[in-house]
Amino acid sequence: MKKEELKLVSEQIIELKNKNEHFFIMNGRRKTYHILTYGCQMNEHDSEKIAGMLTSIGYEETYDDKNADLVIFNTCLIRENAELKVFGKLGEVKGLKRNKPDMLVAVCGCMMQKKEIREKLLKSFSFVDIIFGTNTIHELPGLIYNVEINNKKSVDIIDNTELIYENMPKNRKFKFKALVNITYGCNNFCTYCVVPYVRGREKSREPIEIINEVKALAQDGCKEITLLGQNVNSYGSNLENKFTFAQLLYELNKIDGIERIRFMTSHPKDLSDDLIKAIKECDKVCNHVHLPVQAGSNDVLRRMNRKYTKEHYLEIVDKLKTAIPDIAITTDIIVGFPGETEEDFLETIDIVKKVQYDSAFTFLYSLREGTKAAVMDNQIPDEVKHERFNKLLDVLYEIVLNKNEQCIGKVFPVLVESLSKTENTLTGRTEHFRLVHFNGSEDLIGKIVNVKITNVKTFHMEGITVD
Ligand code: 5AD
Ligand code: SF4
Repeated sequence: MKKEELKLVSEQIIELKNKNEHFFIMNGRRKTYHILTYGCQMNEHDSEKIAGMLTSIGYEETYDDKNADLVIFNTCLIRENAELKVFGKLGEVKGLKRNKPDMLVAVCGCMMQKKEIREKLLKSFSFVDIIFGTNTIHELPGLIYNVEINNKKSVDIIDNTELIYENMPKNRKFKFKALVNITYGCNNFCTYCVVPYVRGREKSREPIEIINEVKALAQDGCKEITLLGQNVNSYGSNLENKFTFAQLLYELNKIDGIERIRFMTSHPKDLSDDLIKAIKECDKVCNHVHLPVQAGSNDVLRRMNRKYTKEHYLEIVDKLKTAIPDIAITTDIIVGFPGETEEDFLETIDIVKKVQYDSAFTFLYSLREGTKAAVMDNQIPDEVKHERFNKLLDVLYEIVLNKNEQCIGKVFPVLVESLSKTENTLTGRTEHFRLVHFNGSEDLIGKIVNVKITNVKTFHMEGITVD
């Protein structure tokens, strides 16, 4: 895999830095940026890189989007509502920019990888100054330079680049937990999904790059890492020197200071026995697998191009539960895929009951132009989708609540993440990814503490700290 070390020393960068320094001296404040992030953890992490690039040229973050000097939309295309949200918010910013013409507006992320959407943006949202893609984050200083110094609108997209940019600066949101890319892109072409079209083919980072990043994070006080890939299970298959995801886990498990290793997402078709063994044997790897099932009917699964059957999926779940009895299994489910019959839907309900998920993300099928499912016959009417969706939630919530109830009276180590806004309590997660609220002082944030569960709801549990 080709890679390139990012060098932040170009003349443009130096000139921009000087200009921003001058702005600071003249105005007594730094230029500010605000990033609106839509979509998944991959985008969240990309935003940390965008923030890192901006800091390196003298910008400072602000939470006040109305007064920022630079507003960046990091967009998502996975479902129609993500796309609509971006267009709605862009409309608001248009008004802001009228009163504040110096404000720069940039749009990046998955939506910008689609030519038709870029064209729509250039035509109907002509106030946008900068457009860049998921593969051109490293170009951002040059794009800002183009607008600020050359007074030109900047568009820079590369489709399906083979390059992986290492050493990009990152402003990580948390010190104690971090997202770490291990693969980019996807080769699976599930028929409903735009990701392979916008994020390109799967590319794995070299193991040494990942190991070095995690060692540096550990030295910096990070306790939990989440390894990110559209399908982490196929990590390494395209590296010159083959290296498996299981091998990677064993290596990362050796790093002092790291206490928890998570990963997302696992495609069931590639979940190997070696990986199950690694999860069991590596003490830092959390006993939690996010294993998207998408549907329960074999016919729907085949038309989704998921490459497993319901029986195969249940076999994997069985292996996981046998090897690691306290494993938590979470999932993604799509309701209303084209041609889904009532019987097909009941197969989804059946698999949910059989697996007894610890939690699930549920989605209404959303037609995405350019995918194979978009042109399939028998698109399901919205009312039917909603009806099935609500039925699914009823079944799921009962299971999830029941699973949470089994935790009452037990003690779990919880990584304390933040102060919960609503109830003024601390909030954190167990190894199994369950959210826990409990009383305690703010200085516990970033620490792992033992919490005894006293009460549970569907979406969180409550507890008290114990020694
Ligand atoms: N419609 C609804 N849900 C989708 N997902 C991906 N594409 C679509 C779509 N077109 C869901 C899948 C995937 C999750 C990240 O998003 O469940 O696992
Ligand atoms: Fe989309 Fe399927 Fe790839 Fe996941 S595995 S990103 S659902 S194509």
